[in-house]
Amino acid sequence: MEQQEQNSVNMPRIGDKAPAFTAITTQGKINFPTDFSGKWKILFSHPADFTPVCTTEFMTFATRQKEFEALNCQLVGLSVDGLFSHIAWLRNIKEKIDYNGMKDVEVTFPLIEDIKMEVANKYGMIQPGDSETKAVRAVFFIDTKDIIRAIIYYPASLGRNFDEILRALKGLQTADNFGVALPADWEPGKDVIVPPAGSCGAAKERMQGKEENVHCYDWYLCTKKLSKETVEDALYKS
Ligand code: BEZ
Repeated sequence: MEQQEQNSVNMPRIGDKAPAFTAITTQGKINFPTDFSGKWKILFSHPADFTPVCTTEFMTFATRQKEFEALNCQLVGLSVDGLFSHIAWLRNIKEKIDYNGMKDVEVTFPLIEDIKMEVANKYGMIQPGDSETKAVRAVFFIDTKDIIRAIIYYPASLGRNFDEILRALKGLQTADNFGVALPADWEPGKDVIVPPAGSCGAAKERMQGKEENVHCYDWYLCTKKLSKETVEDALYKS
């Protein structure tokens, strides 16, 4: 029990309001999440500056930033280091690193200084079983109303998959926009899952094929077509 208590971490969960904080970043002071209310936010953490995996991830976030912006999503990074270290690291990335076709990469989204791990602790990014001083690679998806909608954690040794981060963001927005759920490996253009039948009568009707455009594998697993164009029209409307 004592060991369990020592290892317990304060972790916000899916459905919680994103914990608020004020922080110094490489783009000035921010109040999170209120400065970005009305936008989706991806808050992601790194163990430390000047580390190899983090560098590849930072370059990828910066290179793909426009894809996130097109989905009304603000990127906010955190690394357990101080502001001057952050500035030196970002300058080094821009001036020296030529990696995987990415070079001259300028990071223009905020990178939070969190040497005291105040924000990292608030978000359960410090996981003492792994490290007492370095954040794991957390990705928090926070919606326009500042509610946490999805969380992905990776260990220090494994870089994130950016296609999956973008797919998850599109999936969350599509579920909201169309009132559907998304099956395994869904991507825009693939069939979506309609809400389960809420009564025996509705289940029977579904199985009789009475709902237009709905295909049922069985009464509880029914899908419909939702074209890539329709999804993208909704997601990229602004
Ligand atoms: C990295 O980002 O490369 C890294 C950070 C902490 C531990 C191991 C690797």
